[in-house]
Amino acid sequence: MKAKIIGTGSYAPEGILTNHDLEQRIETSDKWIVERTGVRQRHIAAKDEATSDMAAKAGARALAAAGVLASEVDLVIVATTTPDMFFPSTACLVLHRLGISNAAAFDLSAACSGFVYALSVGEQYILSGKYKKVLVIGADLMSRFVNWDDRSTCVLFGDGAGAVVLAPTSGKHGVLSSRLHSDGAFWDLIAVPGGGTANPPSEQVLAEKLNTIKMKGNETFKVAVRRLEEVAREALAENNVSISDLSVIVPHQANIRIIKAVAERLEIGLDKVVMNMDQYGNTSAASIPLALDQAVVDGRIKEGGLILLLAFGSGLTWGSSLIRW
Ligand code: UT7
Repeated sequence: MKAKIIGTGSYAPEGILTNHDLEQRIETSDKWIVERTGVRQRHIAAKDEATSDMAAKAGARALAAAGVLASEVDLVIVATTTPDMFFPSTACLVLHRLGISNAAAFDLSAACSGFVYALSVGEQYILSGKYKKVLVIGADLMSRFVNWDDRSTCVLFGDGAGAVVLAPTSGKHGVLSSRLHSDGAFWDLIAVPGGGTANPPSEQVLAEKLNTIKMKGNETFKVAVRRLEEVAREALAENNVSISDLSVIVPHQANIRIIKAVAERLEIGLDKVVMNMDQYGNTSAASIPLALDQAVVDGRIKEGGLILLLAFGSGLTWGSSLIRW
C-alpha cells in the first residue's frame, strides 16, 4: 500500500508588494533583489487575514480537486510556524472553517521544511491503515514576523498556503519515500527568538525586534545548498533511480541562487525545476505545496511522472519526498 496525493490546492493573498514598492521603504533596488534572490514580488495578507484563513482556502481547493467531502476527512495537519495563536492549533481553526467534524487535527512545526515533514506524517497514518483521508496543509504568514527595517530579510518572504489530500492506494503511484533530517546545533541561523517562553513578550523584546525573523543569510545559504544536494542524492539512491528519471524537482523556494547551485551540482536542467519565487517570494511551509499545485495545474506534473520535493528550513530541518504521480 502507498499514500497517494489525490488532489492539490493553493491560495495566496490578493495584496502584492513589489520590489519597486520596497525601494520606496528601504535602501534597496529591484536589481539587487532580483539578482540575489530571484524575487520580484510577494503576496501579503490583508490586516484581517490570518494563517488559518489562507490554510482553509487552500485546503478547500485541495478537497474540491480530490472530490473529497469534509465529512470524509480523518485528519488535518497544518505545517506552520506562524500560527494564528499559540493555542488552539491552526489545524483546529481550519477544521472548523471547513466544516470537518470527527477528525483529528494538529499543527506541525518544521519551518520551511514543514510541508515535507507533514506529508511524511500523513503518509504514515495512511500506511498504518488508521486513516483513509488526510488533509495536509502548509501555510505561513511571514509578513507578520518580518522586520520591515531589515533589508537583508524583508525582501525575501511572502504569505500563502498550499494543500494536498492523501488517500491509500494499492497501485504503483504515490509517495515512494520520505526522508527527514534535523540539526538543532544550527538553531540560530534563522529564528524568531522573542515572544515565546525563552524571551516572553516585553518592552525589550519589542524594542530589539526579537519578535521578528533574525537570519544569518550567508551561512544559511551555504548549509542549504549542501543539505539539499545531499538529501536529493539520498532519495535517488534509496529508490534506485537516477536524476534523468525525474520529471520535475519541486524545491523550497528560498532563493534562486540556492536552487541554481543545487541543480548544477545534481546536473539537472532548470527546465525540470519548478520555481515561482519571482511571484511569491519565500512562503516558508507553503512554498513547496504552492509550487506543486501550480505545476499540477499548468500540466508540468502529469500522471506517471516522478516528482522530487526538496525542503530546507529553520531548525535546522531538511528532507525529501519522492512521489510517483
Ligand atoms: O527558508 C530558508 C530561508 N533563508 C534563506 O534561504 C536565506 C539564504 N540566504 C540568502 O538568500 C542570501 O544570503 C541573502 C539574499 C539573504 C543575502 O544575499 P548575499 O548575497 O548573501 O548578500 P550579503 O548578506 O553577503 O550582503 C551583500 C551586501 C551587503 O552590503 P555590504 O556589506 O557588502 O556593503 C548587504 O548589506 O548586500 C547588502 N544587502 C542589500 N543591498 C540591497 C543586503 N540586503 C540588501 C538589500 N538590498 N535588500
